[in-house]
Amino acid sequence: MTGAVKKVRGTLLLDGSRHAIKKAAALLQAGGLVAFPTETVYGLGAVATDPAAVKKIFLAKGRPADNPLIVHIADLDQLAGVIDSPSPEALFLAGRFWPGPLSMVLKRNPALAPEVSAGLPTVAVRMPDHLLALRLITATGAPLAAPSANLAGHPSPTSPQHVITDLSGLIDAVIMGQRCRIGVESTVLDLSGRQPVILRPGGLSREDLETALNCRIPVAGTRFSALRPSSPGMKYRHYAPRAPLFLITGSPDRRRVLLQTMAAYYRKQGLRVGVLSSFPGKGWGIEGQHGRQAANLYRALRMMDDSGTDLILAEETSITGLGLAVMNRLRKAAGRTLRI
Ligand code: TXA
Ligand code: MG
Repeated sequence: MTGAVKKVRGTLLLDGSRHAIKKAAALLQAGGLVAFPTETVYGLGAVATDPAAVKKIFLAKGRPADNPLIVHIADLDQLAGVIDSPSPEALFLAGRFWPGPLSMVLKRNPALAPEVSAGLPTVAVRMPDHLLALRLITATGAPLAAPSANLAGHPSPTSPQHVITDLSGLIDAVIMGQRCRIGVESTVLDLSGRQPVILRPGGLSREDLETALNCRIPVAGTRFSALRPSSPGMKYRHYAPRAPLFLITGSPDRRRVLLQTMAAYYRKQGLRVGVLSSFPGKGWGIEGQHGRQAANLYRALRMMDDSGTDLILAEETSITGLGLAVMNRLRKAAGRTLRI
């Protein structure tokens, strides 16, 4: 294996070989930015204790400086350098769900670059369940701050091609892994307050967390919770495709009739209409196949944009399991919600 595959607009495309990981680690140690695969989405990494490198992440993505990043670690020893002192609850959840799609918000260690957590006293941390990500963090010898490796406002990248489309020319390298297994971002759980709160539903289901902690866990910013959104990222319109997206909610029979009627109406007007429907045969994943819907979601949104879709019609799915994350992303992507 040669390590480097080629360059696109100055960004090195690396394979997953040992040589390539060494090269990527050296770029990170020198203050560079390297995108890498995780089980959720691709991340854009910088050494979390290097303020200048962390600032570059915000610049490359066009990310508002008040939206904090997630710090990625490869083993529990690294936790002490990231957070102040882990609570028994945090250690219990780490033991149960790491490596995996759970980011925990805890009191931060002052050694971290303040930019990582946008000046907040807390920091989000997780251990990704992906061999290449773990090898990269270990080879670098430091925790990596890494948001999703997309331009701010675009759907998160679930394949190396998505990263290249958004960030080539703006970052040092991309580790070219496979498509991401989960396809939506990690669940962000705030453990810094009196009661655990899900700030962002994601790849670990609310049900799994509730079973583990043996309590109800509210989701911030929804009808389940009167809590104000405490995750700065929640105030931004995220995950948005270029084409306007209408989310159609209501009973399955009625919403399907509306979806088909609207699709036919706009197509007759000459518009390209993209459909995300759990109708059998539509390819997205039928109702109940939330894992499949999550894995396909961002890829489908990007494919629709690439093929010049004028309008996207998306059908509501139930909010059990990963359905909660899918609906959260659809609501954020939607310009309008039509309830029938
Ligand atoms: O799966 C993932 O989480 C991916 C991969 C790369 O690990 N990363 C990711 O990062 O989605 P990003 O930056 O796109 O989303 C981070 C989210 C944002 O909504 C941010 O506001 C929230 O986590 N967050 C980070 N630190 C926080 C903190 N200290 N308090 C509250 N929310 C925080
Ligand atoms: Mg993101």
